[in-house]
Amino acid sequence: MTSKKVLNVVGARPNFMKVAPLHRAFCAHGAFQSMIVHTGQHYDEKMSDVFFRQLEMPQPDVYLGIGSGTHAQQTGKIMMAFEEVVFQEKPDLVLVVGDVNSTMACSVVATKCHIPVAHVEAGLRSRDRSMPEEINRILTDSISDFLLVTEQSGLKNLKAEGISDEKVFFTGNVMIDSLVHFREKAAQSSILQDLKTTPQDYVLMTMHRPVNVDTKDGLLRLLEILEHVTSLKRVVFPIHPRTMNRFESFQWSERLRQIPQLTLLEPLGYLEFLCLMDNAALMITDSGGVQEETTYLQVPCLTLRESTERPITVDLGTNELMPLDAKTVNQRVTEILNGNRKQGAIPPLWDGNAAIRIADVLANV
Ligand code: UD1
Ligand code: UDP
Repeated sequence: MTSKKVLNVVGARPNFMKVAPLHRAFCAHGAFQSMIVHTGQHYDEKMSDVFFRQLEMPQPDVYLGIGSGTHAQQTGKIMMAFEEVVFQEKPDLVLVVGDVNSTMACSVVATKCHIPVAHVEAGLRSRDRSMPEEINRILTDSISDFLLVTEQSGLKNLKAEGISDEKVFFTGNVMIDSLVHFREKAAQSSILQDLKTTPQDYVLMTMHRPVNVDTKDGLLRLLEILEHVTSLKRVVFPIHPRTMNRFESFQWSERLRQIPQLTLLEPLGYLEFLCLMDNAALMITDSGGVQEETTYLQVPCLTLRESTERPITVDLGTNELMPLDAKTVNQRVTEILNGNRKQGAIPPLWDGNAAIRIADVLANV
């Protein structure tokens, strides 16, 4: 039997923890020749290289080195470079994950070259078309041949958009595969000692959505939230480069650094961040993936957004949506720290075996 050549696309931080278990499952399956193509959308050591090491992924077979730019520049450059790879490698399948620009750019290229596309994490919808990710999700799903879904809302959304049932597979959550695989190893990280903290003694925070951090108003609200929450508990904030750049360009980085009880860090490796999440009293975020990880870990999570494309984390999990407003956030943080926590359950098929199910599906189509 000839093996199926699959090109797995990664580009940005949330892609690495999704592709690592898939690459592992493809290699173990026997039916695939699995290759990793890194677009270079994220390129800093702390946004990219560290994940290859910690997630035990081989170096990418192809590195496109695209880097940052406007949406059109980044998307266009990825498309041009990835088309060359497709011409050269002649894959049987292109696999994309999530909702970043690399996901959409590579799915368009593959489809136009008549290469089947598998989209992992299909069907999620925030219904907020001002988010670049929502456009990427809609476009990618509309042209993908195999749509691998993480939660029931995805099945409903794809049906409502007229996508044929035969293309859609409910296989679970590959991001949770990585979490299950590395949780024990993460628990051995020295990050708590390094930060001189102990379990439940801090709030963990990440923020990087353009709607929250790209405007002066958003950043000011974020500063107010930090000033309030740190009056209740220490906050550990590994800051995304987009967010740090904005603080610097609005000349607020000094105000940020001077907040007492705020520990500002560079972006953390996967194992250190997982260890911090697992032991946090509370997570405050606007990340997509972190909403899912805290639901699995049953850690309370306040997501400072008006909508979520991952409604199961609110319906079943520990996630709550909150406006970017210091008074509202402060009130809920106080309640949670006083023990009024939302109880949650783990969603169906978030069990550590999603990548194996996906490999089985894709071997047989
Ligand atoms: C991207 C994704 C977003 C995802 C996030 C995960 C899109 C449209 N956005 O947003 O969905 O949630 O990644 O983290 O695909 N930068 C660095 N070093 C890096 C990478 C970026 O300094 O290694 C800085 C650059 O100034 C860059 C900015 O961060 O301009 C934004 O990077 P970009 O990839 O365009 O978007 P993200 O905000 O990271
Ligand atoms: N993450 C990490 N280090 C950090 C912050 C996040 O390893 O300092 C991980 C986090 O555990 C999750 C992923 O990065 O697995 C989420 O990526 P991000 O929030 O950048 O993107 P999104 O999910 O919002 O697209």
